[in-house]
Amino acid sequence: MSLLDNPQPANDFENIQIARARVQALQQKLESLRIACRVNYFTFSPAFTTLRIKNGEETSMREYNNIDLDVMQALAVSSVRILNPIPGTKEVGVEVPNAKVNPVYLKELLIDEEPNKSILNVPFGKPAMGRSLFYDVAKQGPHMLVAGATGSGKSVFLNTFIISLLLKATPDELKFVIIDPKMVEFSVYNDIPHLACPIITESSEASILMKRLVVEMGERYHKLKLSGCRDIKEYNERIRDKNMPLMPYLVCIIDEYAELIGQDKSIEDSIARLGQMARAAGIHLVVALQKPTVDVISGKIKSNILLRVAFHVAAGKDSEVILDSRGAEKLFGNGDMLVSQSGGEPTRAQGAYISMEEINRVVEACKIQRKPDYFPQFLDLVEKTDDGDGVSLNDEDKIYFDRAKKFVLSKSFFTKTNVGSFLGVGAGRADKIVMALLQEGVIIQDNRTGKYNPNPDYIE
Ligand SMILES: Nc1ncnc2c1ncn2[C@@H]1O[C@H](COP(=O)(O)OP(=O)(O)OP(=O)(O)O)[C@@H](O)[C@H]1O
Ligand SMILES: [Mg+2]
Repeated sequence: MSLLDNPQPANDFENIQIARARVQALQQKLESLRIACRVNYFTFSPAFTTLRIKNGEETSMREYNNIDLDVMQALAVSSVRILNPIPGTKEVGVEVPNAKVNPVYLKELLIDEEPNKSILNVPFGKPAMGRSLFYDVAKQGPHMLVAGATGSGKSVFLNTFIISLLLKATPDELKFVIIDPKMVEFSVYNDIPHLACPIITESSEASILMKRLVVEMGERYHKLKLSGCRDIKEYNERIRDKNMPLMPYLVCIIDEYAELIGQDKSIEDSIARLGQMARAAGIHLVVALQKPTVDVISGKIKSNILLRVAFHVAAGKDSEVILDSRGAEKLFGNGDMLVSQSGGEPTRAQGAYISMEEINRVVEACKIQRKPDYFPQFLDLVEKTDDGDGVSLNDEDKIYFDRAKKFVLSKSFFTKTNVGSFLGVGAGRADKIVMALLQEGVIIQDNRTGKYNPNPDYIE
């Protein structure tokens, strides 16, 4: 953590002066709107001030509907978010941008972490009150959606996310897969030992990699089953004493998801499959994009992504796609975020700013520890019809495939030859069908014996 910049004390002198004037201006405005209330006091968060209002006995919450523009005008601010009420209180909150924004330092967030949390417990930002906001991606995700308009702070946030994990986990404990179609945002991480494969920038490679992640998930399930463990955590606890290699968490970060899926729709199927069952296997997805629309973030994908991070978006309907509620259209930008988990009430927080110098220091410190040691199964991301990637079946193959599927699901184990003789086809076609079954997640291969088994977790 000594590699990170030290937080500078916030200088709120100017903000306090202005907040006092705003309290008065708001009180006057609400009086002129005939809302009986008292603007009581204000609290600061790094990017915004919350003016807190106590209602009169008779005042209805509805009186605050549609007063945003009046308030913006009275306080001369570009944006306002009204919390009616502030969750957990009887007060109404009026959030307005600070006159002077105090940057949040990553170190400031990290030192707030409670002891004995998992490695995947990461800081998200500083809320208006209380400790920094942390989420355990494994427990509270297991997958995450990050969305916001251009320039709203997604990449800065993803960088703080990656850096936090680099500081917490060794390359044996955690590996990243980074898909970065923009080619610039994450290139600084090339060659760190925490990568499972070099950073992927081509959509064709990304779609193959996602399929291989699905296969990896199946293999991990099989391994867990053989060792009688419920999940990766239990497995690693048991392995640790035996001096065997750990099963690393795999965190797959996909930036500019809409761009990728626009070029290859099959990525969506892989994500949906990983979405359903990747938690126990320690595979976690982080999907980032600018403009969430329902066709890009379909229900099939969303139902398994429970951690949602919204930065400023253009319209309320964008916010609804991300958080299932409005609000992100009222954020102020520059790392101002709303985070919701499992559809709960979103929490507003200010993300940390991280400079390129800080990132470089951490990256260099990681690089000198060790050379990257890539997963062989995530290399050579080219379509190969003979080893299971992008196996394309013609119509006749598809009929064989359906028959083979019924056959293999009725067996406890089998070989390619068994499948070939059942179907009455040659070795080449049997091979292709088995590869397609592997790719679909219907079956998994036992690394030790080379035989195939039906995937116990296969869901039709
Ligand atoms: N947490 C933050 N604190 C202060 N400033 C920030 C923060 N996050 C972002 N910014 C400012 O906003 C700029 C743009 O942020 P960022 O590159 O993360 O946007 P983005 O959402 O990834 O945009 P795009 O979709 O175009 O890639 C940053 O260069 C920085 O100046
Ligand atoms: Mg970006």
